[in-house]
Amino acid sequence: MEKQLNLLKVQCLESISKINNLHDLQELEVRYVGRKGELTMILRGVKDLSADQRPLIGQLGNQVKNELDAAFAARKLDLEKQDIAKKLHDPMFDVTAPGPEIGRGHIHPLSQVQQEVEEIFNSMGFAVMDGPEVESEYYNFEGLNIPGWHPARDMQDTFFIKGKEDKKHGRMVLRTHTSPVQVRTMEKFGAPLRVIVPGRTFRYEATDASHDTTFYQVEGLLIDKDISISHLKGVIKEFLTRLFKKEVSVRFRPGYFPFVEPGLEVDFSCLICGGKGCRVCKHTGWVEFLGAGMVHENVLKAGGIDPKEWQGWAFGFGLTRLAMMRHGIDDIRLLSGGDLRFINQF
Ligand code: PHE
Repeated sequence: MEKQLNLLKVQCLESISKINNLHDLQELEVRYVGRKGELTMILRGVKDLSADQRPLIGQLGNQVKNELDAAFAARKLDLEKQDIAKKLHDPMFDVTAPGPEIGRGHIHPLSQVQQEVEEIFNSMGFAVMDGPEVESEYYNFEGLNIPGWHPARDMQDTFFIKGKEDKKHGRMVLRTHTSPVQVRTMEKFGAPLRVIVPGRTFRYEATDASHDTTFYQVEGLLIDKDISISHLKGVIKEFLTRLFKKEVSVRFRPGYFPFVEPGLEVDFSCLICGGKGCRVCKHTGWVEFLGAGMVHENVLKAGGIDPKEWQGWAFGFGLTRLAMMRHGIDDIRLLSGGDLRFINQF
């Protein structure tokens, strides 16, 4: 067996040195050291040897295997180098030709809309704020005039985080809206204020084409002296007209949110049918767009602002819904699904 191994090694090394292309080299490799190659076949016999022979031959076998592997690798490198050299000398080989194009990503449709919204509000003097996605019950509810017993808690099904809890701030939750950043911003900067807060929000609900557990909202907050709802109407109308690049009208209806008084629901004229009535606006000519109202005095107080001196309004709308409307996307789940066949269309 020792002889057999040595002979095989000599033969194989000689064949390697004679080979002059990568394809043949690979075939040779399979024939000698492949899974069913000659070396493997010989080594199968090791188990039948006597106990004193077995380790010696086994060791020799490994040694031969290593040497051959190294010889194959070295020859492969040689041949590859020759290949490149040959190509470079080929008059038809164009070294200046551009390489394969590198795939480039692009901004997600949601982020595109977010950037546009930020630009428009920036140009009207609003700063862009940020707040934590894992929020305390205090900022998400109490600070916004929604105590624990309040029925409005049921309006927003909440994800609670296990473990952390303290007396002032309560349990930790995934924020159900961007409104907690209202009080945070008031505490930090005081009045006057003019901010928007785009951000990710979460609700514990069954998913379908128009509901997801994760979605994006934009909060708006303006606090100053002598502020009224007419300022809100002007800002929203101007914002939508700039965003959609055509004249949009808005309609205010009474609505209820504990953190505003009075509260409003705001609709805008349907862009698909121009207000005549279609499937998108459920034949009303209006699309429901945001919740808003004059900031409740308890919320101003929670933020350390004196309601006798200052007043303001707040609004909140679904950025995800806006992106869907803009592109005619009919399933919300596509936006966070990460399917490139979908994303690449925008
Ligand atoms: N936070 C409310 C929601 O998620 C929207 C809202 C924001 C309403 C600000 C009024 C004022 O539905």
